[in-house]
Amino acid sequence: MGRSLRVSPGCIEQVKSAVRRNGFPSQSAFAQEVGLSPSTVKSFLRGNPVDYINFVEISEKLGLDWQTIAYIEQTDSQSPQPNPPQTCDETSPFITGNPITNPRCFFGREKELKRLFNLIKRQPLQNAAIIGKKRSGKTSLLQYLKNITTTPIEKLRPSQKSDWLPHPENYRWIFVDFQDSRLQNREGLLRYILESLKMIVPNPCGLDRFMDVVSYNLHQPTVILLDEIGVGLQRCPELDDGFWESLRSLATNQTNGNLGFVLATPESPIELATSTGHSSPFFNIFGYTTTLGAMTEAEARELIGSSPIPFADEDIEWILTQSKCWPLLLQILCRERLFSLEDGVIGDDWHEEGLEQLKPFAELQSI
Ligand SMILES: Nc1ncnc2c1ncn2[C@@H]1O[C@H](COP(=O)(O)OP(=O)(O)OP(=O)(O)O)[C@@H](O)[C@H]1O
Ligand SMILES: [Mg+2]
Repeated sequence: MGRSLRVSPGCIEQVKSAVRRNGFPSQSAFAQEVGLSPSTVKSFLRGNPVDYINFVEISEKLGLDWQTIAYIEQTDSQSPQPNPPQTCDETSPFITGNPITNPRCFFGREKELKRLFNLIKRQPLQNAAIIGKKRSGKTSLLQYLKNITTTPIEKLRPSQKSDWLPHPENYRWIFVDFQDSRLQNREGLLRYILESLKMIVPNPCGLDRFMDVVSYNLHQPTVILLDEIGVGLQRCPELDDGFWESLRSLATNQTNGNLGFVLATPESPIELATSTGHSSPFFNIFGYTTTLGAMTEAEARELIGSSPIPFADEDIEWILTQSKCWPLLLQILCRERLFSLEDGVIGDDWHEEGLEQLKPFAELQSI
């Protein structure tokens, strides 16, 4: 997002009551009046970032001074943090769209986590592939693997398990997002891996020098997470068979079992390699593959239960049925229900809005 602003958490009640004070029966009616989409207005009223121009316009329409209600970013990371409430974050209880990076906001996937951590908790580290449709939660799972074992328990929900590894502090994690253009060429990627490992980066940083540095210096368990590997295969000619074969050799022969890969992709890695003209045996080292499906009902109920305003049983049942327990769809429907409760709207109009918001993700539901 370009220049954006959000309402300071302490002013959220003030801006919400300003909607009613100005005679608007609902947030949607106000959105219509101000000529912006309901989601922009909702974001504004919930303290989520909105475009600067829209922020000023909405504030003026509500008779509020935008400078007084705008949130000023705290740059001091030492600033005291309040005890986290039961929800993920005061302003964003439900996250729709972005991958989940805060472990507290991640729900479920117990079965997958157990299997994945089992593969990397002993030497040699073994490799795993996570296959999942678009928007099924692949990136969130990779991020969770990377972060959960070193997140202090006071930053987690009370029931959340974090002791998956015997010595999490020994592990190094490298998250590679192949959608990042800086990582779409060989030297950029190799440099990034070495920098993440705090190893000396040779100049130039070619494959042979990279292999030397890593095989000589890598003595700690290290997991390289490869997100959107399909992009790497399709769009990066420099990441050719020779490159992938070297990575395989590093993992299997040169690092005493200290290096493992976990990749995420919408298709099977071997099929992906073949379909993109790669013959690489790299993809044969992924001995464990898990396919991400919907959450279990119990996991979905836990996510729904994280709402700062509890939902009625009939709402919970409706959300479970309509979402089929897909995390993104659960998050969307919970968000809509919460908006309507916060807005004081009576009735089931939120059903219609919720189903509308699910439409772009119909593919998730088609089994
Ligand atoms: N474990 C989870 N707990 C809570 N919400 C989740 C979880 N996993 C996914 N989500 C929800 O699903 C959305 C999509 O997740 P994510 O971006 O990880 O999926 P993806 O498979 O990587 O998507 P893409 O195919 O676009 O890369 C998130 O914004 C969030 O709303
Ligand atoms: Mg993703």
